[in-house]
Amino acid sequence: SVIYVLNGPNLNLLGAREPEIYGRDTLADIEQRCLTAAGDARIVFRQTNHEGVLVDWIQEAREKAQALIINPAAYGHTSVALHDALKTLTIPVIELHLSNPAAREAFRHHSYVSSAATGVIAGFGAAGYELAVQAALTKVRERA
Ligand code: DQA
Repeated sequence: SVIYVLNGPNLNLLGAREPEIYGRDTLADIEQRCLTAAGDARIVFRQTNHEGVLVDWIQEAREKAQALIINPAAYGHTSVALHDALKTLTIPVIELHLSNPAAREAFRHHSYVSSAATGVIAGFGAAGYELAVQAALTKVRERA
């Protein structure tokens, strides 16, 4: 099976960006963790700073993926377009955050993605990506 792992704005700077909040792993380190956690499943791992590109990739996943993991980063708090795109999917969708947005500033407390997601993983740092891959594989197996 194929699992899409999509990453939103500023996550290309992981490792250097507020490491006390987001940890020292780079996005390349995190991709490696996903590949290892996936075993035989195929991971398509991408990052963009552009909202519309995330929408394009979500639409692409309609045909190509069996599960989708998304760290929408700041767009999770702002984007109706992401919500609508995710709502078109029939595959499991896992929302992922390195930090726990509920324990941070008020402007991070609402997510447009959560209401379109199967489940949410937040607050476990880079390890959350491995948990999300496991969760995706579990959901895919349940549906098989
Ligand atoms: C984040 C949390 C968001 O609030 C923030 O805008 C990010 C990263 C996380 O992974 O903890 O860019 O999605």
